[in-house]
Amino acid sequence: MNLADSELVLGLLDDDNYSLTEKMEDADVVMVNTCSVRENAEQRIYGRLGEFKAAKIKKPEIVVGVLGCMAERLRSKLNTEEAKGVGQIVDVIVGPDEYRKLPSLLNQAWHGEKGIAVQLSRVETYDDITPLRTNGISAWISVMRGCNKFCSFCVVPFTRGRERSRNYFNIINEVEELAKRGFKDVTLLGQNVNSYNHDGKDFADLMKAVAEVDRTIRIRFMTSHPQDMSDKLIQTIASKDNICKNVHLPVQSGSDRILDLMKREYTSNHYRQLISKIKTEMPEVCLTTDIISGFPTETEDDHRITMQMLEEIQYDGAYMFKYSARENTPAWKMADDISEEIKSRRIDEIVTFQNKISAKRNQATIGKVLDVLIEGDSKKSSAELQGRTDGNKMVIFPKENYTPGMYIKVKITRSNSATLFGTIHHNHLGVTI
Ligand code: 5AD
Ligand code: SF4
Repeated sequence: MNLADSELVLGLLDDDNYSLTEKMEDADVVMVNTCSVRENAEQRIYGRLGEFKAAKIKKPEIVVGVLGCMAERLRSKLNTEEAKGVGQIVDVIVGPDEYRKLPSLLNQAWHGEKGIAVQLSRVETYDDITPLRTNGISAWISVMRGCNKFCSFCVVPFTRGRERSRNYFNIINEVEELAKRGFKDVTLLGQNVNSYNHDGKDFADLMKAVAEVDRTIRIRFMTSHPQDMSDKLIQTIASKDNICKNVHLPVQSGSDRILDLMKREYTSNHYRQLISKIKTEMPEVCLTTDIISGFPTETEDDHRITMQMLEEIQYDGAYMFKYSARENTPAWKMADDISEEIKSRRIDEIVTFQNKISAKRNQATIGKVLDVLIEGDSKKSSAELQGRTDGNKMVIFPKENYTPGMYIKVKITRSNSATLFGTIHHNHLGVTI
């Protein structure tokens, strides 16, 4: 979501005649788009601001900006005691709904005036702003902003405000434009895409329409809240070849007692039924999830039940986090009573266990021929390419004469918990099929 927002900001600034520099030393304006979801995300930003401070000492006229959720959460405090010695360097503070003000705030900052804009909006969707995309194959499109769910641990409803959906027709137009420019992979984004609603069109209607723009574009989406994922959406994903059979469905915990305290509004059985519907409609589906370990009052039993859930569902991958208490969220009022030591041990157990499951799921692809969209050179070697399967698994293979943006078939020969490796599959005529 932040990467997509940064592209929006670049789009806005591009219209105002700013351009990107390769290196920070060459820049007149340096900004960081921030995340508040966990304490360590914020700590990393303080580290980054430390680098900006060093740059500003060398070149005092640099304008420094903090954008996004941390700007919204800390506001002018970013310039005071909470900013751990780096606050004095921040010139502009802009929350997620105020990016339109950036050009004028930057202009004022050039004249030595610090600025702040952190109003949340009930309507802003940046519908008319064209994001500046630096990658020509994969694109993100935010289709809705904000969240009304108020899960008890989560700061997002406070930093990103209320839910609102973008115009249905404008999203389809944007995908048509991307198709003309040769994009091959589009991910529709929202904190809870199932809440998408524009003039009676729901998220399943939107997915279907977007998939019909160009059958050579793969469509993905994230994130769905398990309480409101509809049968209609599951059927829509199953019915279209170019909608990836790849569902990210955050479970957070396997324990009903913890799910209740988290205010997730579903039970583990509801979640199981949903997964079973998805697997029945799409036996080849790749599933991923989010887990929070060490939520207040979590017992060894709750922890064990979460591990059992991982065993039962057999996810292809998971994002696994230690609980981080966020100020002013409902869970903040509960004691953060699981010690750091226990949280660390539990998360290690979860990560080790899930990595084994991911490795096993990946191993099951060995010998199969999978459709891969080539994204670019592999990070390790320019003699190899990397791409993704429909299920969003990373594949590495020898380059031959192929280039990014092409679909090819790759025969998988080996794997680990994060990556598949293979060779391009040729038929007997030597032609890729
Ligand atoms: N502590 C740890 N993880 C969190 N997440 C959200 N809030 C917190 C928190 N306070 C995780 C959830 C969510 C993902 C985006 O971040 O798992 O699904
Ligand atoms: Fe946070 Fe819950 Fe909204 Fe996701 S659905 S953004 S976890 S409040």
